[in-house]
Amino acid sequence: MTNKITVMKGDGIGPEICDAVMQILKAAKADVTFECFEVGEAEYKRNGELIPKEAYESFERNRIMLKAPITTPIGKGFRSLNVTLRKRYDLYANIRPAKSNTAVVTPFPNVDIVTFRENTEDLYVGVEEEVDENTVHATKIITRKASERIIEDAFEYALKHGRKKVTCVHKANILKLSDGMFLSIFQEIAKRYPSIIAEDKIIDALCMRLVMDPSEFDVLVMPNLYGDIVSDLTSGLIGGLGLLPSANLGKDHAMFEAVHGSAPDIAGKHIANPTALLWSACMMLEYLGQNDCAGKIRKAVDVVLAEGTSVTPDLKGNATTEQYRDAIIAKLS
Ligand code: NAI
Repeated sequence: MTNKITVMKGDGIGPEICDAVMQILKAAKADVTFECFEVGEAEYKRNGELIPKEAYESFERNRIMLKAPITTPIGKGFRSLNVTLRKRYDLYANIRPAKSNTAVVTPFPNVDIVTFRENTEDLYVGVEEEVDENTVHATKIITRKASERIIEDAFEYALKHGRKKVTCVHKANILKLSDGMFLSIFQEIAKRYPSIIAEDKIIDALCMRLVMDPSEFDVLVMPNLYGDIVSDLTSGLIGGLGLLPSANLGKDHAMFEAVHGSAPDIAGKHIANPTALLWSACMMLEYLGQNDCAGKIRKAVDVVLAEGTSVTPDLKGNATTEQYRDAIIAKLS
């Protein structure tokens, strides 16, 4: 049965990259159909809702979503729709694979790191309190349940994909109770996976090691905020935000999106790189068991990146999003 996919086209560069990705999936004959929705501030101005009711209903029916980035106002305004979606559908595992591509030259040719970011709690619960006009408290929440499931998923992934090591990333030297609990749960669960090396790193030391020698690392697991920051760092190691895909998985729903944001600085210029969203779509196809189709698309992207003549400006080319899209479509076989 053809899989129906709920698509949120996002804002900023969202609609441009989303259209390119859907066209590539169509050309690759992916066995999917799309139910597309406009979301975000523009939709709010049009219809009074940031995410229309029909979009929620579609996701509840289909359980699979391809989502383009959505702008979140800084400092004031509405709560992040990304955080809202992750929380509402308990999409607790944010999986972000960063792998070097031989065609994209960086100082680090050997990166192959998968970050498991806990996606539902930590400082992202959004509980802030103004104690007085000069003092604000923000609440960091870490629970055993949420920590166990993300750590277990990281080890299960390592086992399934023949990975050698899982590194727990924390700041338990300072946050002795919250990160201390995350670390001790990691140490308990690690005992069940004797074939996998389990180590831990303090977040600051990890960042230093990552930019000295990222080939030291394999699978990383960490609370929400560290995962947000570290995964952007890993995107930098492989050539930038335009190249980092992600899956947000829960028990019942799955949402696939690029790690980057809506890039308002380049929106509408038709120079956005759609690769991160396209690779997220490949993760979606693999999730649906359409591995051959995902493989075909990945191969076409590799060829276009290797040729280097039709890549977007972030990869030092001068192609538009649409020219890059067409070059990939031409290589599908
Ligand atoms: P950003 O990721 O949108 O942009 C950072 C830099 O990377 C910019 O210079 C941008 O031009 C470049 N960039 C990002 N994606 C690119 C692509 N595909 N191709 C070429 N260049 C690309 O981060 P920023 O500016 O901090 O955030 C903008 C908005 O996006 C904010 O409102 C933020 O809250 C939101 N955001 C949304 C996310 C989501 O929907 N999942 C994730 C991260 C941020």
